Amino acid sequence: MPRTALIAGNWKMNGLAGDLGFFGEVARAAADSPADILVCPPATLLALAAKTCSGTAISVGGQDCHARESGAHTGDISAVMLRDAGADYVILGHSERRADHGESDAIVRSKAEAALAAGLIPIICVGETQAERESGQAETVVARQLAGSLPENPQKMELVIAYEPVWAIGTGLTASEADVAEIHAAIRKRLPEPLTTRILYGGSVKPANAESLLSLADVDGALVGGASLKASDFTSIIGAVGR
Ligand code: 13P
Repeated sequence: MPRTALIAGNWKMNGLAGDLGFFGEVARAAADSPADILVCPPATLLALAAKTCSGTAISVGGQDCHARESGAHTGDISAVMLRDAGADYVILGHSERRADHGESDAIVRSKAEAALAAGLIPIICVGETQAERESGQAETVVARQLAGSLPENPQKMELVIAYEPVWAIGTGLTASEADVAEIHAAIRKRLPEPLTTRILYGGSVKPANAESLLSLADVDGALVGGASLKASDFTSIIGAVGR
């Protein structure tokens, strides 16, 4: 079964209202692309970004959500709220959330279940640290994160997995093609049939390496951090799909 590629930008804690011109610059490439195009701006810009992207081929998403629908959780945002603001997707369990906010696999799973219940497509992030890779634990760690973070009965729902080796994020280092292919195949093996779940690679994806990474088997797209902040870089990554 063919899987539509997904090119997703994660703006992390970057972006102000003055940056929304980005979407106009990317809209043409998105319209011409065979891939699904997604941008996850900070929550403060989500509703504005959704409005700006309405009628274009760009979807918007959140970067995190709370596991509950509403209640006394100061500063948190629920999946229902993201949906209400115009989000179609939400990134969950990013290594920066796991490290900065102590998010366990169980927390990520409960957030993924909340996201699905709200009609969002969760993008569940997994990936090993440098020490884990150096000690030969990369696949074991990713398998454990996957087993703990995926919602119950994942075969019934649309979700996306993002493999983001922690040591490749924001460092300019990218996993070798062989390592990416190996981990993506290992993830694919652990996903239930039918094999429609998309697996993205993330970690220093840029115009110069996008084409080779995206051509690997089992790489169904990219989760792009730094290079998604510049319209020309993001556009050229979009252009690398299926080239
Ligand atoms: P960089 O592309 O900046 O390495 O970030 C990757 C990432 O964390 C995307 O979620």
